[in-house]
Amino acid sequence: MTSLADTHVHLLAGLDDGPPTMDVAVAMCRMLVTEGARHATALAHQNRNYPYNTADRLRSSAAALAAVLSERKIPLSVYPTGEVMLSNTTLDEWRAGTLMSVGDHKQWLLVEMPHGAFVDVLPLADALRSEGVGLIIAHAERYAELLDDPALTQSWVEAGCLIQVTARAIAEPWAPEFEAALKRWARDGCIHLLGSDGHGIERRRPKMAAGFARLAKWVGRKHATRIAGTWGAAILRGEPVQIPAPRPSGRSWFSRMFGA
Ligand SMILES: [Fe+2]
Repeated sequence: MTSLADTHVHLLAGLDDGPPTMDVAVAMCRMLVTEGARHATALAHQNRNYPYNTADRLRSSAAALAAVLSERKIPLSVYPTGEVMLSNTTLDEWRAGTLMSVGDHKQWLLVEMPHGAFVDVLPLADALRSEGVGLIIAHAERYAELLDDPALTQSWVEAGCLIQVTARAIAEPWAPEFEAALKRWARDGCIHLLGSDGHGIERRRPKMAAGFARLAKWVGRKHATRIAGTWGAAILRGEPVQIPAPRPSGRSWFSRMFGA
């Protein structure tokens, strides 16, 4: 069975709108194991709504969760991660050490758009790239400006950004046009990581398996395994990852073979 890596799941009890208690966080971890995951972010929001979520706070909370998982022999490795809302102070905050990188490895920063806005990430991506840090665009399928513009997506990827997509969006796309755009991203090599964006056990549960299975139908099991497992696990562990450049839209070998 493929070991999946959930690169976007809120698991830090009481730190944000994710699990309210350690028991719920642990139940989410058990669910993830059932889903086939062996690696997951111990993630919480870092934005103005959660001013106490410093890197240190996320670090110690993730360590507490890891200790409980180890004690209860739950086979899931967790990695402290911040979901950073982009703002005009993001670069300063990074340099000040208040933002938590993915897995605390200082190689990748998981970022989301400000509420109700879509901003150009290229200036920040360029500034961080010179410091050895890349951006991962969280739940990128939410941003129609990006999803519907293959050239823009390609320019972000060429600037070193990785595209993360929510597993549920692939498993249960909410409109035919949305599904078509996601498929195009997948076949163009513009989906790099999968995340559940799980928040709890009643709603927004940490589901990965159905998205992985559907992705495998779109791009083949081998490539789906890279997206949903191999690349994410490497990034969470702080290992180097070789991700091929995207193909120009409409000219992929999938397109040529299947006329998609
Ligand atoms: Fe999230």
